[in-house]
Amino acid sequence: MKMKAVVLDAFGDVSNFHLQEVPIPTPKQNEVRIRVKAASFNPVDCKIRKGSYGGDCPLIIGADCSGIIDELGPGVTQFSIGDEVYGMPFGQCSNGSYAEYLCIPVQFIAKKPKHLSFEEASSLPLVSLTAYRAMIATHALEKKGPIFIAGAGGGVGSIAVQLAKHFHGGPIYTIAGSEESADFLMKTLKCKSDHIVLYKGLTLEDLQNKILAVNGGNLFGACFDFVGKEMKQLCIALAAHSGHVASILPEDPNSGTPAWIQAGGLCFRKNLSFHSIFVGAESFSGATSSWKIYQDHLSAITKLLDEKVLHSPILKNIGSLGVETVQEAHRLLESGRVKGKLVMQVS
Ligand SMILES: NC(=O)c1ccc[n+]([C@@H]2O[C@H](COP(=O)([O-])OP(=O)(O)OC[C@H]3O[C@@H](n4cnc5c(N)ncnc54)[C@H](OP(=O)(O)O)[C@@H]3O)[C@@H](O)[C@H]2O)c1
Repeated sequence: MKMKAVVLDAFGDVSNFHLQEVPIPTPKQNEVRIRVKAASFNPVDCKIRKGSYGGDCPLIIGADCSGIIDELGPGVTQFSIGDEVYGMPFGQCSNGSYAEYLCIPVQFIAKKPKHLSFEEASSLPLVSLTAYRAMIATHALEKKGPIFIAGAGGGVGSIAVQLAKHFHGGPIYTIAGSEESADFLMKTLKCKSDHIVLYKGLTLEDLQNKILAVNGGNLFGACFDFVGKEMKQLCIALAAHSGHVASILPEDPNSGTPAWIQAGGLCFRKNLSFHSIFVGAESFSGATSSWKIYQDHLSAITKLLDEKVLHSPILKNIGSLGVETVQEAHRLLESGRVKGKLVMQVS
């Protein structure tokens, strides 16, 4: 039995994607097979395409999906054939979601909230699991007081803002690259206009001073870097003594000693807790006993979606499973102009 998949033949540019017929995978112990209905795209897809995550080509990528279970592997009791589910095929899966079928361990899926379409559901797992992890690490869901988020309008940031608004309730300060971005933050995420600083054209020092000024000169108990590079430094600079910084971006190998490691640097002097957040950490480690974190976090997220506390990001449906759709998604992601999430219909 064969399925259609968009296969990455070699690491590199988008011309390396080709539509192929490949064997339909068979679920292993504690896995289910999903007939994929929709898949969403993430910036990590482009990084994997370029070879940053290693591995061997040919490869079928795609780290988010929704669909219908059509086969159960040995040992699966909590799901049934026909269940509508969504999940994160990132790490220990037969293949990614640029394909009609995939097999995935049960810890990485949950039942799809009924009021969400397959497209909406497919936009959520990776960004929500990342935002939730960052919020938990910094205790931002329990503590009051202003927080700062760099990248609040992105896929991860827009979930983090919703979580912070619900659990934390304190003011959220952020930055935007343009009036359009600021508008998006205000209209879609209900961020306050006087809590948004436009960052284009400012030096890091000027940006830092402007953000402090809008927060009455005060530092922040928790800062979130969902952008990387200079924004990580900015978050460390803006964090209060004994505060928390969470960053979802790895260190830039060309930037010398990372800001959070520097001897006598701000992290040390301010007694900061710096949290590196990688949503694939346990998945890629292959230690199946650690996968429960995905099940726990995804069920908490599903509850928030069911209660309509959390909403899917703004979606742009860019077509159905095919090479052109995938190439277009990667080009758009790399242009940095995407607001919300890109999704495709798969079957
Ligand atoms: N560690 C993990 O587990 C993990 C998980 C998910 C994502 N990530 C990574 O985290 C990053 C964000 O992911 P995402 O899905 O949220 O991306 P996204 O949807 O593309 O959002 C990017 C955000 O960054 C802002 N931005 C872009 N350039 C900026 C700059 N120079 N200064 C300040 N802000 C800037 C954008 O706002 P403006 O348009 O206003 O500039 C936008 O809000 C990606 O690199 C992704 O690969 C890591």
